[in-house]
Amino acid sequence: MIGPGDTSRAKQDAAERAVEHVQSGMALGLGSGSTAKFAVEAIGRRLKAGELREVVGVATSVETRELASALAIPLTDLGDCPLLDMTIDGADEIDPDGNLIKGGGGALLWEKMVATASKRLCIVADESKLVDRLGEAFPLPVEVVRFGWQVHRAMLRELGAEPVLRSDLGGAPCRTDEGHYILDCKFENGIEDPYSLQQALVIRPGIVETGLFLDMKPEVIVGRA
Ligand code: A5P
Repeated sequence: MIGPGDTSRAKQDAAERAVEHVQSGMALGLGSGSTAKFAVEAIGRRLKAGELREVVGVATSVETRELASALAIPLTDLGDCPLLDMTIDGADEIDPDGNLIKGGGGALLWEKMVATASKRLCIVADESKLVDRLGEAFPLPVEVVRFGWQVHRAMLRELGAEPVLRSDLGGAPCRTDEGHYILDCKFENGIEDPYSLQQALVIRPGIVETGLFLDMKPEVIVGRA
């Protein structure tokens, strides 16, 4: 039986194998979430040991930025470094075509911008993230501006979703690093056509981005416990 310790070891294994591909001089996208955290830590260790030099990172969340700073990983931003050599990030779901759902940690907007700016996207995960169809296990996060956020719910229901405003334990709405809200959208039988769904959502004023990462052709590393 697979326990939480095994999952954590599998995440660490995937992350550390990805970091073996990092070379000195690279500009890196630093992902968010518990799996990407292992990668950031491994980059920090390799820098400290002198195995890597002149690496710079662009963080995909405030949390990752703080972790990278604490590990003395030099940081930059997309303004100064618009093309990155490689991003290492986690995922909530990975389908057989390498399409993804991301944003379980709320960092989907910066994650998608950083992934788009990267020559290589390396996705690190344990095997529980592998699915036949996106949305079958994990709700799709949809980031919306706070103004009039309620107006999206009826439309999302028409598209087959059951949207829930993401809240903290005290019941207050969670805010992303850009101050937006997230609607977590459960699809009863998964997402039938992620491409049409993405189009239908992002053309709508007030919807900022979705957690669908399509056609990014990631290299996927699945960790072993
Ligand atoms: C953060 O917003 C997410 O996209 C994470 O990368 C994703 O939720 C995977 O998280 P874990 O590695 O913690 O499972």
